[in-house]
Amino acid sequence: MQSRAHTWKRAGIKIGFVPTMGFLHAGHLSLVKEARKCVGKKGIVVVSIYVNPTQFAPTEDLAKYPRDLQRDLQLLRELGVDIVFTPGDAEMYPGKAQNRYSTYVVEETLSRSMEGVSRPTHFRGVTTVVAKLFNLVQPDVAVFGQKDFQQAAVIKRMVADMNFPVRIIVAPTLRERDGLAMSSRNKYLDTDQRPQATILFHALQAARAAVKTKSVSATRLKVDLKEFLTAAPLARLDYVEFFDPETLEPVTQVKRGTQMALAVYFGKTRLIDNVTL
Ligand code: PAF
Repeated sequence: MQSRAHTWKRAGIKIGFVPTMGFLHAGHLSLVKEARKCVGKKGIVVVSIYVNPTQFAPTEDLAKYPRDLQRDLQLLRELGVDIVFTPGDAEMYPGKAQNRYSTYVVEETLSRSMEGVSRPTHFRGVTTVVAKLFNLVQPDVAVFGQKDFQQAAVIKRMVADMNFPVRIIVAPTLRERDGLAMSSRNKYLDTDQRPQATILFHALQAARAAVKTKSVSATRLKVDLKEFLTAAPLARLDYVEFFDPETLEPVTQVKRGTQMALAVYFGKTRLIDNVTL
């Protein structure tokens, strides 16, 4: 992958990159289209499919994370993707099985809150694998989804701090007709949970309405939203936070332009969503 990337670079060909964990849905495909838009017909679009073990905690869903490589390849072929990069664990983490892999990339500020509280080792795995993929694919531009808002912020910070010569694009969240944000994990929801999962989207809408003409205390709004979530009895709130979209610092007064993010469990399935209010 790296030697091919070097060849394209020497020929002045732009490389657009979309890292994924596969089991692609329309949200991923919109990121791929964005990458193509950025590099044009003459550019190369690379999509990686790699379920990265270091971003899963031992208690999480690594083994049963959904996979369907043949379907993914077909979808990407239809979109005219040039390269699908599907490395294995032995290539990405050489020597890990023998305890001989020991280098990680850690972002120390933006990754601490929200997802970082619920999943303390998650972002170290994400920044490490994305840094490695950037070194392998050598992209000029890489596209990430707004659905993982904190991930995009952490990656942008890593790119700035570590001088990666990559432009990061964050593309809008795609939603199902009923508002549920597209995610590979939606597949885990059973027929009782699935209709109730729209509560995340409705909570974002409710908060948006609440701050449309005035600011509201974050504490007050959190209490109201917890009450709001009881409309979905199968939902268990992990967190709801209001924060500055740049610094990710929590705010005490919520107003237009404040970022809101929440994570909600349905059984063992954990869904996240966010919006700029
Ligand atoms: O967003 C994802 O699917 C993953 O976190 C990423 C960026 C592909 C790294 O494994």
